[in-house]
Amino acid sequence: MKEIFVTGGAGFIGSAFIRLVLDEHPGSNIVNFDALTYAGNLENLEGIDDSRHTFIKGDICGRDEVLAAMPDDCEAVFNFAAESHVDRSIHSADEFLRTNIIGTQILLDAAREKNVRRFVQVSTDEVMGSLPDESDEFFTESSPLQPNSPYAASKAAAEFVVRAARETHGVDTVVTRCGNNYGPRQFPEKLIPLMIANAMNDESLPVYGDGKNVRDWIYVDDHCRAIWLAFKKGRSGEAYNIGARNEQYNIDIVKSLLDSLGKPHSLINYVTDRLGHDRRYAIDPAKAETELGWKPLTTWEQGLAKTIDWYRENQDWVNRIRNGEYRSYYKSMYGAALK
Ligand code: NAD
Ligand code: TYD
Repeated sequence: MKEIFVTGGAGFIGSAFIRLVLDEHPGSNIVNFDALTYAGNLENLEGIDDSRHTFIKGDICGRDEVLAAMPDDCEAVFNFAAESHVDRSIHSADEFLRTNIIGTQILLDAAREKNVRRFVQVSTDEVMGSLPDESDEFFTESSPLQPNSPYAASKAAAEFVVRAARETHGVDTVVTRCGNNYGPRQFPEKLIPLMIANAMNDESLPVYGDGKNVRDWIYVDDHCRAIWLAFKKGRSGEAYNIGARNEQYNIDIVKSLLDSLGKPHSLINYVTDRLGHDRRYAIDPAKAETELGWKPLTTWEQGLAKTIDWYRENQDWVNRIRNGEYRSYYKSMYGAALK
């Protein structure tokens, strides 16, 4: 059996990745290292095969705990652990710089000490900034890194520390840069689950600005397959842009969620725009397609339907979050109390 070390595996994408590896790659054992911040949730791992999965609660900024948890004969580190929400980073950036930059450096140091074969850094298209509205420009691997939010800046800085570990110490690294993910178990601070949860509760749907910002959406399992392929087939030192060629206006998503849930468009509430709000993200995934042999398997229509079904069937999961720290977050963010 090969040992792999996954950080942030109790979060949205990390838990989907663990499910994928357990289902599709029977030769791997997983150590899942997660601090269980507000976004980490052991319920996200319910029902998985624990004979090949070990959970360790820990902070990637804690050098000793990372070294103690990382297996001695480790095939790969997959670094999902991060502070991941742009709005929270606008409110307060410290934790983003700590986890996303210092934490990544500590993981790289540990990977070097333990002779880990490959370090996979899960990055984001947001490091490349914003594209002009309705242009035919796309993010490619040679687009400059020009992050605009504190979150994106911390992820771009993480890419630089990954690069430095490779250039200075010869650590084998691969970076993936994916667009906006959606799917089951996404924390309801993010657009799609927030809108589904609010609509299900007949609460207003806060759309920033004119609703015409564009994001390039991908079903979470398709992202996870790309990360696995980057580990297996990616060239050392390279970055791979991951996207499903699926640009959508925010307002169109919100309207189609309301239609699917049988709720009125009158629930839409245009609110003050996010500070520094990136206008458009759009990914050219040609390099991942040709070099990794990757392509998305889930259409937007299928993925949205699966996502809506999951939130409908797991209202307890949503309500437990909405009754916790999220209530005060929501109030301070949106100025309105949840029901
Ligand atoms: P998430 O916020 O749902 O989960 C993050 C996880 O990391 C949580 O389980 C949390 O407990 C854990 N964590 C946070 N700080 C930690 C620390 N100091 N030590 C150990 N664990 C810690 O995030 P997500 O949406 O699943 O994103 C996962 C990764 O993918 C992030 O690196 C993010 O930047 C990247 N990414 C996300 C998207 C997206 O659309 N969500 C797109 C591209 C890339
Ligand atoms: P989000 O899910 O926070 O992802 P990101 O900012 O990382 O792309 O937001 C996606 C888009 O939805 C973004 O343009 C901001 C917008 N948005 C709203 O209009 N209202 C909201 O309440 C949220 C959370 C996001």
